[in-house]
Amino acid sequence: MTKQEMHAQYGPKIVCPLPGSKAKAAVAADERLISPSYTRSYPLVAKRGRGVRVEDVDGNQFLDFAAGIAVVSTGHCHPRVVDAIQKQAAELIHISSTDFYDEHITDLAEKLSAVAPMRGPHKYFYGNSGAEAVECALKLARYHTGRQHVIAFLGAFHGRTMGALSLTGSKPQQKRRFAPLVPGVTHVRYPYAYRGCTGGPQEEEAFALGCARYIEEKLFKTVLPPEEVAAIFVEPIQGEGGYVVAPTNFLRELRAICDRHGILLVADEVQSGCGRTGKWWAIEHAGVEPDIVCIAKGIASGMPLGVCMAKAEIMDWVPGSHASTFGGNPVSIAAALATMDIIETEAMENAARVGGLMLERLSGWTKTHAMVGDVRGRGLMIGVELVKDKTTREPATAVRNRVEALAFERGLMVLGCGETSLRLCPPLILKEEEATVALDILEEALTLAEKEAGSAV
Ligand SMILES: Cc1ncc(COP(=O)(O)O)c(C=O)c1O
Repeated sequence: MTKQEMHAQYGPKIVCPLPGSKAKAAVAADERLISPSYTRSYPLVAKRGRGVRVEDVDGNQFLDFAAGIAVVSTGHCHPRVVDAIQKQAAELIHISSTDFYDEHITDLAEKLSAVAPMRGPHKYFYGNSGAEAVECALKLARYHTGRQHVIAFLGAFHGRTMGALSLTGSKPQQKRRFAPLVPGVTHVRYPYAYRGCTGGPQEEEAFALGCARYIEEKLFKTVLPPEEVAAIFVEPIQGEGGYVVAPTNFLRELRAICDRHGILLVADEVQSGCGRTGKWWAIEHAGVEPDIVCIAKGIASGMPLGVCMAKAEIMDWVPGSHASTFGGNPVSIAAALATMDIIETEAMENAARVGGLMLERLSGWTKTHAMVGDVRGRGLMIGVELVKDKTTREPATAVRNRVEALAFERGLMVLGCGETSLRLCPPLILKEEEATVALDILEEALTLAEKEAGSAV
């Protein structure tokens, strides 16, 4: 198949200058009626989605490499997910597991336990979002340990409700004018700057280890008594913070520190979980067993569902301690059961394979593109960091934003993350040809943005 044929068959179809007239009207209504706190990068007004494609209100078709922020893991409107939702909606939409029993939530719990990243038995709490899964983990960690303090990382994103926001350490705007937040959170360095090291893998490893050891060797010996720390919250791959992969030795050292001091290790897998990295959970790549796992985004292909999975002995609170009216509603659970089947049987292996091919091609851009400072990721969770200068690694945020806009004009939806990175998190059922076409478009957008910035190689 020629490149032209491949683009014709698998590529986007833009039928009018963007935004089209219907999209313009929708954006105007949104500006009038909707909270201005949302951060839109470009005027995409979605009407329908199928697989990796999204069609907008004017009939333009896009390749979706954002997947509703890493949510539609099985693609838009996967027929088996749609079927499960329709059947369940006709049977029972809501009962509230807070007050009544419901076998759907135990079905999903059994299924999750079969793929859990830590030994069982496990217990589960259901909410509606990532933030709710994190809130649960925070409350549970305090409740179970009787300790007040928690540790989180700079660059971390754990959500926007007050508890989750207190753990978040990503962007000042997320916290500006919302203080006082939940007290007792100490943020420490995530091994991110190691990417700027010039000493190669050994120096990188030493830096990563240093980030973990700082907790025990500095914090615990100065301001934070370890016996008052309930939990360490960590994203095995930072999401909003820039798609930064935590090195294996860093995660293992966190586990060791937790073990030495009776602290719980909480893996926030809201973005990195559910097969996105080619394994069920990103922390599995490091061979580390957490005590609590926060799950949301990819678990139900777009239906709202948050899950807090814990070792059974940790989830020891009593009736009335915590609950959520809608959490684990039967329709979301039906979508999750179908989603897990699809991930298991086809999507996860595909994510590892197609993601590997993408990473290989993208890694070459660090040599062929003046502004690509780093490419990193696992499976279909890939970050491309743009810099003004590869030695100083000065962020090129405006150029990153420009690449997003140029890609959109060409029919490719991508999102930014961190200060200066692009994130690629397409549905896990992505075909090799779709990946090739998307990277062709992204490279065209990148080349143009680099030229505009005067940095072409
Ligand atoms: C790692 C992580 N944790 C928590 C959240 C919060 O999830 P939600 O937006 O569903 O509340 C997010 C959302 O992006 C996330 O990426």
